[in-house]
Amino acid sequence: MSSNTVRVLTGITTTGTPHLGNYVGAIRPTVRASRRPGTESFLFLADYHALIKCDDPVRVQRSTLEIAASWLAAGLDPEKVTFYRQSDIPEIPELTWLLTCVTGKGLLNRAHAYKAALDKNAEAGVDADDGVTAGLFMYPVLMAADILMFKAHQVPVGRDQVQHIEMARDMAASFNHLYGGGQELLTLPAAVIDDNVALLPGLDGRKMSKSYDNVIALFGPREQLKKQIMGIVTDSRAPGEPKETEGSALFAIYRAFATPDETAAFAKAFAEGIGWGDAKQQLFERIEQEIGPMRARYEHLMANPQEVEQALLAGAVKARQLATPLMRELRQAVGLRALTNVGKSASADKGARASLPVLKQYREQDGKFYFKLTQGAATVLLQSKGFDSPRDAGQAVRRLQTEGATALAALKEWVTTPQGVSEASVKDALERLVSNSV
Ligand code: TRP
Repeated sequence: MSSNTVRVLTGITTTGTPHLGNYVGAIRPTVRASRRPGTESFLFLADYHALIKCDDPVRVQRSTLEIAASWLAAGLDPEKVTFYRQSDIPEIPELTWLLTCVTGKGLLNRAHAYKAALDKNAEAGVDADDGVTAGLFMYPVLMAADILMFKAHQVPVGRDQVQHIEMARDMAASFNHLYGGGQELLTLPAAVIDDNVALLPGLDGRKMSKSYDNVIALFGPREQLKKQIMGIVTDSRAPGEPKETEGSALFAIYRAFATPDETAAFAKAFAEGIGWGDAKQQLFERIEQEIGPMRARYEHLMANPQEVEQALLAGAVKARQLATPLMRELRQAVGLRALTNVGKSASADKGARASLPVLKQYREQDGKFYFKLTQGAATVLLQSKGFDSPRDAGQAVRRLQTEGATALAALKEWVTTPQGVSEASVKDALERLVSNSV
């Protein structure tokens, strides 16, 4: 990862078949974002999460293929992004356990999805945990492992998922605090909510969603697309009568696919009384213009699932190049270590850590990224200036950790020593930091 790269990570639960709402709200913006320079995208099929919601193995497998084929058909370039299947990364459940052990049960009690299940049971007058699996309860921990495993900076999510990202931050902070010895072993992620992405209305005008049974399939046969579009609910105005664009599902869907000019022309046609049949035909053609070429690719992939399988396996290899070494480091940190070098007891480990100099990274109100070198609870030996990017701050920290005092010359514009602290004590602390961080 170069110093200014932002790492963006998203997962898709593999329980359904993508519809137009998924395309407009998630697939299309994510594919576009993945092409932006300066971003590194991680995209995965959350099939372990699927097991929490769905106990139909055929459906999980089928959905995994359909979702993977949809993303590839929609232009996701697996050479450029890291595209993988969660269950191909054994480090993820491994990290899930480490996080489980630093996560308060009370934190998970407060998760919205779990609380909603409890509320439903209370309403039904049954046992509070009736039908609630431990999987549902643990959902946020698995999700945190997904995110923290790859040190993601940004996680684009819907509002309903923001709490999960906050929980992932909490878990990362607890883990770093307990085991990091001042280092950021795990990166704290941020949720990114894009309020600009269109919430597509469905056939009946409510938000397009599987649970309302009002979806238009993304890559159904062409004839099915046409039929579904013809089924969009409209008012009863006859051809020749002016029509409202406001509140029209038909118009909103058109706008999600059209350029501003096309949309303006469509609005004009509404004002001039276009018939609903003609308007639907135009909508169909406009969607087909974008989706049609992708459908051919989708159909090819569905007929040749081994190509999708190959892409995912290659993605898993790429993903594990990061996951395996990080997991090794985390195992070491928590004490799951080879026995060949049995040294200090737990308390000695802690004692040594307390007296060691520590490099802390943090973010200030000004939005910039800082670090400082401290000794004991109160003494600051080095203070950095504010970095615009967390990567640059992290890189400086790593130089100090690996090169010690030698790195000071290169960083002299970025760090200051508080008054009363001698240069010798800074150098001494850095030397000890280096010899302890191997
Ligand atoms: N929980 C997400 C959803 O239902 C899917 C998901 C699983 C996810 N792991 C993730 C999303 C990690 C972002 C990051 O939509």
